[in-house]
Amino acid sequence: MSFKPLVFSGVQPTGNLHLGNYLGAIRKFVALQESHDCIYCVVDMHSLTATLVHEDLPDQTRAIAAAFIAAGIDPKKHIVFNQARVMQHAELTWVFNCVARMGWLNRMTQFKEKAGKDRENASVGLFTYPDLMAADILVYRATHVPVGDDQKQHLELTRDIAQKFNNDFSKRIADLGVGVEMAVGEEKVNGFFPLTEPLIGGVATRVMSLRDGSKKMSKSDPSDLSRINLTDDADMIAKKIKKAKTDPEPLPSEIAGLKDRPEAENLVGIYAALADTTKEKVVAEFAGRQFSAFKPALADLAVDKLAPLASEMRRLMADPAHIDGILKDGGERARVLAEATMKTVRRIVGLLDD
Ligand code: TRP
Repeated sequence: MSFKPLVFSGVQPTGNLHLGNYLGAIRKFVALQESHDCIYCVVDMHSLTATLVHEDLPDQTRAIAAAFIAAGIDPKKHIVFNQARVMQHAELTWVFNCVARMGWLNRMTQFKEKAGKDRENASVGLFTYPDLMAADILVYRATHVPVGDDQKQHLELTRDIAQKFNNDFSKRIADLGVGVEMAVGEEKVNGFFPLTEPLIGGVATRVMSLRDGSKKMSKSDPSDLSRINLTDDADMIAKKIKKAKTDPEPLPSEIAGLKDRPEAENLVGIYAALADTTKEKVVAEFAGRQFSAFKPALADLAVDKLAPLASEMRRLMADPAHIDGILKDGGERARVLAEATMKTVRRIVGLLDD
């Protein structure tokens, strides 16, 4: 026996979703449902680490769920829910707080960036955020996690936690007969938690700011022109592409010609991702043309792909009770799986329950 392939991923409900979230994450989630069982979670509890008092949190949680569904995720075949509905995530986090070492969390670059200089004043939740993320994944014993490359370090931590748990409790796991055989390097060992693999990659995994090709497209960029929000209408999308920063050179005929031209490379990458093709084919098609010719083509393509998504999101958001129903149903199904894991975890670590 080995672990059954299972995909899990989470998106935090903070602010507007943009093209980077769509191409880097949500579109991959949609594709994976053809080949895998998938659990997609709106990680609302993670949002408390950023802003504790957050009046828009319920609507932002619904907006992510609406985006998942509008993009084509099927909440009946797969599971779509919000984290807070399944308290087993928090319970497993506590166990993982006791498995993970201070030194491991101290090395997390995202914590260092977010806490900034005033670390003493950062919340403990921000520090232990990666333990909650590991619990999100491992409470389902998920084997694959599609994420952006900024989450790679958190996935490594998730594997370190799984491995330490499997090692430290190897005798209990064997005595209770709850291990699953898996390969760790050359060796075959029995473990309770899988060593989860990140799924990173694809065209335009990193969508950059439209105003500065060296920065990631981000919801926190003060300039709204730097990003295409999934709720932007056709005129707004076209305007932002028209105003996107470029360089004066025409498009090259080979991708090597995009080197050191981050803005040009970004726009070509976005075109390739939206058209489901490669950057090579895009430059071959537009070789020698000016951006004044390329941009209208990109704008048409973006409007074509994104406008239906935006209107479907708006339609879903007009009926919050319907979205809440989907999240409730997903939560109930997720809870059954998570509780099965926790029953065994409690036995492994020695916590009495009913
Ligand atoms: N930390 C992730 C991010 O900021 C969100 C997240 C939370 C997540 N839990 C997860 C992603 C579990 C994948 C799996 O993007």
